[in-house]
Amino acid sequence: MTAAMRAVVQRAFGGPEVLETAEVDRPGPVMNEVLVRVHAAGVNQIDALVRSGTLPLLGPPPFTLGWDLSGVVVETAPGVTRFAVGDEVFGMPCLPRAAAAYAEYAVAPSRQLVRKPASLDHREAAGLPLVGLTAWQALVDTARVTAGDRVLVHAAGGGVGHLAVQLAKARGAEVIATASAGKADFVRGIGADQVIDYRARDFTEEAGDVDVVLDTLGGDLAVRSLDVLRPGGLLVTVVDIGDETLVRRAGERGLRCLAVTCEPDQVGLAALVELVEAGRLRPHVGQVLPLESAAEAHTLLASAAFTGKIVLTPDGR
Ligand SMILES: NC(=O)c1ccc[n+]([C@@H]2O[C@H](COP(=O)([O-])OP(=O)(O)OC[C@H]3O[C@@H](n4cnc5c(N)ncnc54)[C@H](OP(=O)(O)O)[C@@H]3O)[C@@H](O)[C@H]2O)c1
Repeated sequence: MTAAMRAVVQRAFGGPEVLETAEVDRPGPVMNEVLVRVHAAGVNQIDALVRSGTLPLLGPPPFTLGWDLSGVVVETAPGVTRFAVGDEVFGMPCLPRAAAAYAEYAVAPSRQLVRKPASLDHREAAGLPLVGLTAWQALVDTARVTAGDRVLVHAAGGGVGHLAVQLAKARGAEVIATASAGKADFVRGIGADQVIDYRARDFTEEAGDVDVVLDTLGGDLAVRSLDVLRPGGLLVTVVDIGDETLVRRAGERGLRCLAVTCEPDQVGLAALVELVEAGRLRPHVGQVLPLESAAEAHTLLASAAFTGKIVLTPDGR
């Protein structure tokens, strides 16, 4: 008989209210997979896009959301050589397919997970993978940010932004950040050299001669970000994916524009862990809610009234 577990399921696309907790079958690991008892699951903007049907990656409901997870290996399938039962692991498996991390248990390909660093608890570890890998793949893999670069990070109080600031600093860059006034102290505290309150000031007048802009907002803000780049500078967007107009506009001005969509990346995760262990990177969890409050978590996610990350805990710990 298959064991049961609690998971957040949705039976229709819609607002946060479609998220409900239900008893479902516990998944079983097959070749190269581990079964993880989830101690914490990170909540991301992509979860909301999939929930609403704006980005129907998982096809029509029913399905269970969630990619970021941190927990303990409770079962291994044949082919798993890197982990044993009892190991504490975290990661962002399977994206763009389902990982169903909003649950008590989830299965994941073992090589899309890494060991949780001892200095992070499960909540912090669950807040790291998707936004941390996005920042890593944008600033390090793609932009190759290096010492002395001037980097502008938009929305630096958010999930991607707060890790991007720390990553850019760890690479030796000078970091300019945009954030609302209420998050300015936090953003300064994680290493930004200059914080621009985007509601009170026009960032194009406050920043210039920038080597790399990380665009986490898209639209008009991405276009205006071209104004602050030095000749040959790079706009990396994680929002305006496939926007050929933006790429063309950048090219016409002697600038570059590349779009990054986050993917599972053991090398990137290991690099993030190394920085965590060196004390140079730390995810900030602004809000922890039980699994049953997934709808509340998504309402909060849409509000920007939190700093860093929102995390769900299946067992209330
Ligand atoms: N391509 C990918 O693989 C990928 C991966 C992860 C995320 N994303 C996308 O990247 C975006 C950010 O994700 P996230 O997880 O960082 O979101 P988040 O945690 O919700 O943070 C968004 C932040 O934007 C700030 N903000 C809003 N308007 C702003 C403006 N005009 N200027 C500067 N900051 C502003 C908000 O804070 P304040 O207004 O209070 O400062 C908020 O902290 C989302 O659109 C998400 O879908 C893409």
